[in-house]
Amino acid sequence: MPQLATDLIEIENQRLATTTPSAIRKFDQEISDIPGIIKLTLGEPDLNTPEHVKQAAIHSIENNESHYGRQAGNLQLCKAISAYLKRKQELVYNPNSEIIVTVGATEAIATAIISLFNPGDEVIVPTPTFALYFSLLQLFGITAVTINTADDDYLLTPEALKRTLRRHPQAKGIILNYPNNPTGREYPPKLIKQLGSLLASQQLYVISDEIYSELLYKAQKHYSIARVIPKRTILINGLSKSHAMTGYRIGYLAGPQAIIKKMTTTHALLVTTVANTTQAAATEALSPAGDLDPQAAVKIYTERQQVLSDGLTKLGLKVIPPEGAFYLFVKIPEKYQTDDKYFAKLLATKARVGCIPGSAFGPGGEGHIRFSYAASLTDIEKALNRIAQFLNNGGTKHERL
Ligand SMILES: Cc1ncc(COP(=O)(O)O)c(C=O)c1O
Repeated sequence: MPQLATDLIEIENQRLATTTPSAIRKFDQEISDIPGIIKLTLGEPDLNTPEHVKQAAIHSIENNESHYGRQAGNLQLCKAISAYLKRKQELVYNPNSEIIVTVGATEAIATAIISLFNPGDEVIVPTPTFALYFSLLQLFGITAVTINTADDDYLLTPEALKRTLRRHPQAKGIILNYPNNPTGREYPPKLIKQLGSLLASQQLYVISDEIYSELLYKAQKHYSIARVIPKRTILINGLSKSHAMTGYRIGYLAGPQAIIKKMTTTHALLVTTVANTTQAAATEALSPAGDLDPQAAVKIYTERQQVLSDGLTKLGLKVIPPEGAFYLFVKIPEKYQTDDKYFAKLLATKARVGCIPGSAFGPGGEGHIRFSYAASLTDIEKALNRIAQFLNNGGTKHERL
């Protein structure tokens, strides 16, 4: 087993050396070995990929679709994405020049960040939010200017945005995520219109990660900011959450042609293109027949959300009312103050229930924990019993671990 030469360690990439790896994965791994633990940690649907989508992948293999495809994504899929965005959001994107199919939304986020910003730039990030944005910005030497939204019901307000823009007139971009991971909050259309009209006069790119757009619970319809400021928005979405296709690794970017062309260069340099087989599956998932799949998932998630939310509330925990995604963001009991890492560790070791410490999601996340309810109802009910026992017994004391 070769050991890296010590002189090479001295010349390692300093930015990578100081980049925080995924705090979510790290904590999940830390607690995974606890015997019998019920993990409500990862944002990974436990549902199977719909049958008609799987058949499309199988058909693609049998059809020998085994050659390099078009760099920005197979045209059939780009057409399906374009039609889907028109059908769902009244958005108009040319499949030939305004869409890139990426390796999950993760690559879409990375491609956008690398393509749009230079080291030393500032990018505004309302928090709590998906931690990957911070790590990628850090890796590429870009400064995240965070806006803590916790005191504003976990939503970015026009006032907070104005304040930040005044203090950071050089900021080159903003990264929005809604429905939000970890809070489950969704921005109402009125607020999106207000934020959009404010951003319309700013010289900055708006990256909008809308990967949970299909998972909404209160008969709300998602309203993309691309509808308000299409000339400034880079829209990110994907199939991982809507169609339980995390392992297929399909996401996409949509935006104005001039910037999509540049981002296609980055994308092609990084990955050439995405696997044909998963693109065939995604084409089927985004066809009108696939519209029913997220609806079926929402029914299942709604029941789980209610059981978990009601259960935690009965135990005296304050749950941030979610509108979308499949997470519950929960305040930890007051006596633990903001020490969410300690509380999450306690819950893992003493109650054998895994969750993610809220501080992993940036300012405003401290003092919270995130539960994912992309888990079976049986596991959720078992977890609730364990948390109840823990809170009724030892959990009321500040214990040593
Ligand atoms: C907000 C958000 N964006 C992007 C992703 C990554 O999605 P993908 O699996 O398609 O790369 C996740 C995954 O948890 C997420 O929560």
